[in-house]
Amino acid sequence: MKVLVTGGAGFIGSCFIRLALGKDAGFEILNLDKLTYAGNLENLTEVIANPRYRFVRGDIADGALVYETMSEFRPDAIVHFAAESHVDRSILSPAPVFETNLRGTFTLLEAARTHSTARFLHVSTDEVYGSIEPPAEAAEEFPLQPSSPYSASKAGSDLLALSYWKTYRTPVVVTRASNNYGPYQFPEKLIPLMISNAMDNKPVPVYGDGQQIRDWLYVEDHCEAILAVLAKGRDGEIYNVGGSRSLPNIDVVRAILREFGRPDTLIQHVTDRPGHDRRYALSSAKLIRETGWQAKMNFEEGLRATVRWYRENTGWVERVRSGEYLAWYERNYDNRGLVSSA
Ligand code: NAD
Ligand code: DAU
Repeated sequence: MKVLVTGGAGFIGSCFIRLALGKDAGFEILNLDKLTYAGNLENLTEVIANPRYRFVRGDIADGALVYETMSEFRPDAIVHFAAESHVDRSILSPAPVFETNLRGTFTLLEAARTHSTARFLHVSTDEVYGSIEPPAEAAEEFPLQPSSPYSASKAGSDLLALSYWKTYRTPVVVTRASNNYGPYQFPEKLIPLMISNAMDNKPVPVYGDGQQIRDWLYVEDHCEAILAVLAKGRDGEIYNVGGSRSLPNIDVVRAILREFGRPDTLIQHVTDRPGHDRRYALSSAKLIRETGWQAKMNFEEGLRATVRWYRENTGWVERVRSGEYLAWYERNYDNRGLVSSA
């Protein structure tokens, strides 16, 4: 199966590529990524020499490039991860969120419509449901009540994608996952930020009272769910992907401090995020019923594995912090004729 992966140099997309190429010799992957601050080709070191992997640097909102890439590669499926993915950044600067998450998704859908791909898997988020009152868990038919520019853009792109199924019969399927964690996550998100600060014995900033609840999903479990939906999901359907482990942020932060033997006095309660959703909760019953997928990693074990990875890969963290990772492309690709570039 030839798969066009967008945003494959990011946290989840790179896990998907490593997993898919590692487990199935039938996959051929072309990774289209703009390499924003969140794209790090170092995440893909283990597949760079794989003849079934190719990389194109470019913007999913660039219609000409997307059409050219599609015409040349002729993918059977598109797995669309590329996005501006950080809520705080979307609040500070919403314009790139609109450009990539909405206009970029539209550009890809148009290309998929004209090139008749067999499947367009749009990777989305539980944030589109907004804050969920306990004890409810959001099912796929729950109303969309996004709170941030990020989640509104994802809700909009979900609806756009589904409209292509209804109107044009473009074979779209949407997945909505909860909070991912694991190796290679950019240290702007809660878990890797707390880990890198705790590692350096620096204060850890907790928004408001820290009682906001998130459902934690190990990144490999998410990628296994995407493979399952790619193979068995039904066109025009939405599948929630939850980790079934809901925890208040403050408990997650304390668990990380414990892993490093740091005192709770490092916790600093800081000004809350505007429009901060209080609780996310997701039912994955449909995904489990229709594909047989199950999350394999429990949170305690997953957190320990994640902490271990960051401890063993301080060089990766340092290069991200210093910005050196941005030069990786030039160092490793330029003048070697390995890639195309927009
Ligand atoms: P990320 O920020 O780590 O990576 C995003 C990737 O997309 C980067 O490699 C970046 O360079 C690329 N990109 C951004 N704009 C682009 C553009 N215009 N053209 C081409 N490439 C572009 O994100 P992530 O955490 O891996 O999330 C991937 C997807 O999963 C997103 O769609 C996100 O909404 C969704 N999601 C994330 C989570 C989570 O917890 N991280 C949970 C549910 C859903
Ligand atoms: O729920 C899925 C979503 O999870 C994805 O769609 C997003 O792409 C992903 O970024 C993530 O969004 P969140 O806003 O939930 O993740 P973040 O790691 O930014 O924050 C998790 C929680 O921790 C949230 O309640 C805010 C809080 N937080 C975050 C940071 C960065 C803090 O208390 N302190 C912090 O410094």
